[in-house]
Amino acid sequence: MRLRNKPWAQELIAAHPELITIAANSTPSTWQECFPSKQPLELEIGSGKGQFIMEKARQNPQHNFLALELQTAALAMILKKQVVAQLPNLQLLQANAQNLTELFAPQSVTKLYLNFSDPWPKTRHEKRRLVAPNFLKLYQQLLVPQGQLEFKTDNRGLFEYALCSLNNFPLHLEQVSLDLHASELAAENIPTEYEDKFSQKGQPIYFLQASFPEI
Ligand SMILES: C[S@@+](CC[C@H](N)C(=O)[O-])C[C@H]1O[C@@H](n2cnc3c(N)ncnc32)[C@H](O)[C@@H]1O
Repeated sequence: MRLRNKPWAQELIAAHPELITIAANSTPSTWQECFPSKQPLELEIGSGKGQFIMEKARQNPQHNFLALELQTAALAMILKKQVVAQLPNLQLLQANAQNLTELFAPQSVTKLYLNFSDPWPKTRHEKRRLVAPNFLKLYQQLLVPQGQLEFKTDNRGLFEYALCSLNNFPLHLEQVSLDLHASELAAENIPTEYEDKFSQKGQPIYFLQASFPEI
């Protein structure tokens, strides 16, 4: 997803260093410094316009949340809402997930969310898929022991790839649903913008929850 450039984005981002970190400029030695309370840290990679992470933070004030996103325009849209909402347990980070181990201390994240990640269907782009083994290696380093990873997508091919990639790594698959909205997990589900769009078209939403085995 490539969002149209927002002429106001850079100015808004520059005006709110208390809410957003640009990884290219600086990163804190610990993310907990950025929040008023030291609480378990949950990370969403590729937050888009932020519907999921904002609602997650609203419903879970006892956890801290970090929205990591590559695109300036997407981050600016989350920031615009966060300037109004002022959720104390939500921070934004502009970075590429490829650099995760430079951005996070080992075992500093309790839960990781990948929602409707770009599918990169061509085999030559496999390493860009956020569920490819090269990314799983990074997630293993930053997650606490028994930390969880959740993944949702509308894309059957990417979901099948994720199941194989996680199983082979290996991760332990704790929950798998081929139709999240029709399952008993639906009651607790917080939909993303993409999820709303695809489920309104009648497409099933695939979901998995997994954890790394203790070494
Ligand atoms: C298809 S959109 C999904 C947005 C949102 N999660 C949703 O479900 O509505 C994928 C998002 O992931 C971001 N993204 C893709 N690769 C990334 C990476 N390596 N690091 C950080 N963000 C990334 C894109 O910029 C885009 O906003």
